[in-house]
Amino acid sequence: MNTTKITNANITNTSQLTDTESSANNAFLNISQVDMVFPTATGGFTALKGVDLKIDQGEFISLIGHSGCGKSTVLNIVAGLYQATKGGILLNNKEVNEPGPERAVVFQNHSLLPWLTCYQNVELAVKQIFSKTMSKGEMKEWIEYNLKLVHMDHAMLKRPDEISGGMKQRIGIARALAMQPEVLLMDEPFGALDALTRAHMQDSLMEIQNELNNTVIMITHDVDEAVLLSDRIVMMTNGPEATIGEILEVNLARPRSRLSLAKDVEYNRLRAEVLTFLYEKQRKVENISNKTVAPQAFAKKRVNEK
Ligand SMILES: Nc1ncnc2c1ncn2[C@@H]1O[C@H](COP(=O)(O)OP(=O)(O)O)[C@@H](O)[C@H]1O
Ligand SMILES: [Mg+2]
Repeated sequence: MNTTKITNANITNTSQLTDTESSANNAFLNISQVDMVFPTATGGFTALKGVDLKIDQGEFISLIGHSGCGKSTVLNIVAGLYQATKGGILLNNKEVNEPGPERAVVFQNHSLLPWLTCYQNVELAVKQIFSKTMSKGEMKEWIEYNLKLVHMDHAMLKRPDEISGGMKQRIGIARALAMQPEVLLMDEPFGALDALTRAHMQDSLMEIQNELNNTVIMITHDVDEAVLLSDRIVMMTNGPEATIGEILEVNLARPRSRLSLAKDVEYNRLRAEVLTFLYEKQRKVENISNKTVAPQAFAKKRVNEK
């Protein structure tokens, strides 16, 4: 696990949950009235405002929203890497103030130690957690099992600079899973993977989560991935002052199969709900570079080339 603590001295910590907020909590994971203000050269930038969510043990939550709305900020606060400016996080009724081994993070940009092999990267996390409860042989078996799970056992002895970005991401996932965390925090974990590997990883994640009942918060841009994997899809409004816009309950029976769901009426209704939220209710027009070749001009150019 990456335990890099954000050391930006500018990130102020004025947060502490009030007694009422603490005692009112019964949820396994309680994201309570979180505000996040980042200091900038032109004053405070309020990225999050009043983000409030109670999550049960074993729930699979997807966080979805347009780029820059604050998804990673929410995840970093739950990970204990950022401190909320206001409000805070309670896990098992304890306030989260720093990273901990019960919350494994899979970052968007793989964060492996470059001087260690893939095996050693996973080993580091496994030793941190299981050195007292597992023998050396058991740890070796467990590391290899997790590397096999992400189809990376063939590259155990390679170092990160010898493998592709998608492969590094898979090692990061193996490392997080090998920690058997109570809470698994994933920031667009499958974004860099090819479609087949991605489908395999999604299926594996569903199986693992069913077996271990860990609580998952996963950020994704992929609407199908969100519906396939989640118990609830938490949809965030655009920033600044981003907050939770809508929460969609996904009550599809488990185990779920992507093939049979493709024609499922409820699956398609949920999919449409997320699309409507993103592209109608929270529509966001991105600036497209004017250097982009217009289709017509492009077609003309092709004709001239012939
Ligand atoms: N350390 C920081 N300092 C200042 N602004 C930040 C910082 N981190 C994130 N932001 C801003 O907060 C907003 C939310 O960022 P982020 O959580 O990364 O969005 P997302 O993950 O949804 O794309 C963005 O406008 C981003 O520019
Ligand atoms: Mg992000």
